Amino acid sequence: MRTELLPLASHDPAEPGVRQALQRAAGLIRAGGLVAFPTETVYGLGADALDAAATAAIFTAKARALNDPLIVHVDAPDLDALGARGVIGPLTARQRQRARRLIDAFWPGPLTLVLPRGARVPATVTAGGDSVAVRMPRHPIALALIAAAGTPIAAPSANRFGHVSPTTAAHVREDLDGRIDLILDGGPTDIGVESTVVDLREDASRLLRPGGAAREDIEAALGQPLLRPEARRVAASPGLLDKHYAPRAALRSAQDLDGLRAIVAEERARGQRVGALLNAHDLAALGDPAPAYCLGDTLEAVARGLYAGLRALDAAGVDVIIHRSITGPGLAEALADRLRRAAAR
Ligand code: TXA
Ligand code: MG
Repeated sequence: MRTELLPLASHDPAEPGVRQALQRAAGLIRAGGLVAFPTETVYGLGADALDAAATAAIFTAKARALNDPLIVHVDAPDLDALGARGVIGPLTARQRQRARRLIDAFWPGPLTLVLPRGARVPATVTAGGDSVAVRMPRHPIALALIAAAGTPIAAPSANRFGHVSPTTAAHVREDLDGRIDLILDGGPTDIGVESTVVDLREDASRLLRPGGAAREDIEAALGQPLLRPEARRVAASPGLLDKHYAPRAALRSAQDLDGLRAIVAEERARGQRVGALLNAHDLAALGDPAPAYCLGDTLEAVARGLYAGLRALDAAGVDVIIHRSITGPGLAEALADRLRRAAAR
């Protein structure tokens, strides 16, 4: 059976049609169902985070490895309430202070915090570990859904495991049609790459995944540099492994137009179909790089279009996707990370 896709006329939860859709979705969550919903980063596949069976169903729907823990989405920036509800465990003074600083600076928003696990979070959510990842998204639909459900919502990105994350409801349907109960269609997501994940459990804070919140801003709020992920954590968090955000096509990058031209010539000489993921200026300068997906000119615009572009070029059946290499701080760190993973074989 096809999964129903409910279009939302706006992002205003008070609007009657939107409220009705949210009530339906919240009822499904409370009943142990699976609902895909928009966040400001990517679409999430949500279930009641305190329901072991419902969260186990997320893994089945996504064909996700059971050792990859889920992010718990909450609707208030309140550490004490999260503790009282058994979402997070007791915090040390240092953990509390750093969590407080980051929550004040970033929530609601694209920052996920890894903290000690609370007693009510099922082992399915934490992949059996003693930590839990929590995030308060800033998308009004996501916040209203969590509030209406009356429970925190565990949600990974709403894609098949290993695929590129979904930034539209159509992407969700491509991957999960018939496998989940409902898709709330709130249009394309605003940021386009996943949240930044920071582990606060040790004395030093650790960046587990670069994302929508910039490392430099997090370090400024903490007054402390972020450590890199460690090998043992990477193993404990397969979302951090290479080849995770992978399209079918191979990716090749160059720093300038001459480099891109050389790749096109080389790949075509080998009989490969080349697709271009570039901005309008580069596409025009390259002449005839069809099929192509046109990215915007700013880092923000590139982030917004990146996953849609990878999906579109995969669907066009190209063998190789060419793009400009991205380096630098802020959002560039997340984009470089995703492009590197998408290129991993
Ligand atoms: O922007 C986002 O974060 C999106 C939206 C839906 O919120 N969600 C998302 O979820 O990207 P997912 O499951 O695709 O990625 C979550 C990442 C994974 O790399 C996972 O391994 C890591 O967070 N993670 C979750 N819980 C963790 C934990 N307790 N310790 C370490 N890493 C954890
Ligand atoms: Mg994911």
